[in-house]
Amino acid sequence: LKILVVNGPNLNMLGKREPERYGTQTLQDIMATLQVTAQQHEVHLEHVQSNSEAELINVIHGAWQQIDVIIINPAAFTHTSVALRDALLSVAIPFYEVHLTNVHAREPFRHHSYFSDVAVAVICGLGAKGYEAALLSAIDRFAK
Ligand code: DQA
Repeated sequence: LKILVVNGPNLNMLGKREPERYGTQTLQDIMATLQVTAQQHEVHLEHVQSNSEAELINVIHGAWQQIDVIIINPAAFTHTSVALRDALLSVAIPFYEVHLTNVHAREPFRHHSYFSDVAVAVICGLGAKGYEAALLSAIDRFAK
């Protein structure tokens, strides 16, 4: 099973960014922990973070026929990007949408997602554990 984790804009600032909201772990910390879980289950895990919408789209295109499942935190693009949604649909790779925070308990503009209706599942409000939950579910549902 090959899994790609994609993190969108500003998530490279985790640890520094609003720590009371997003926690004190860096993205590197979170991905290192996830890599341990992946290795325990003999899953191949790749990770990309970008602040650029174009780069995220290109990364998703590159996953076509290479990757079985995507775990994506589109960050602010969640609420704005038809293009990123279309990229995921174009490669037809099942994906999990993850948010560290409970976006529904935040500003109204965060309540709508361009991804949720086409995601396998949406996990929000579990902090970094949300990635772990998505990974374990992906192994359970898509392992071959
Ligand atoms: C986020 C929630 C988004 O609304 C926000 O723009 C982010 C992070 C989260 O993980 O909670 O950058 O996706």
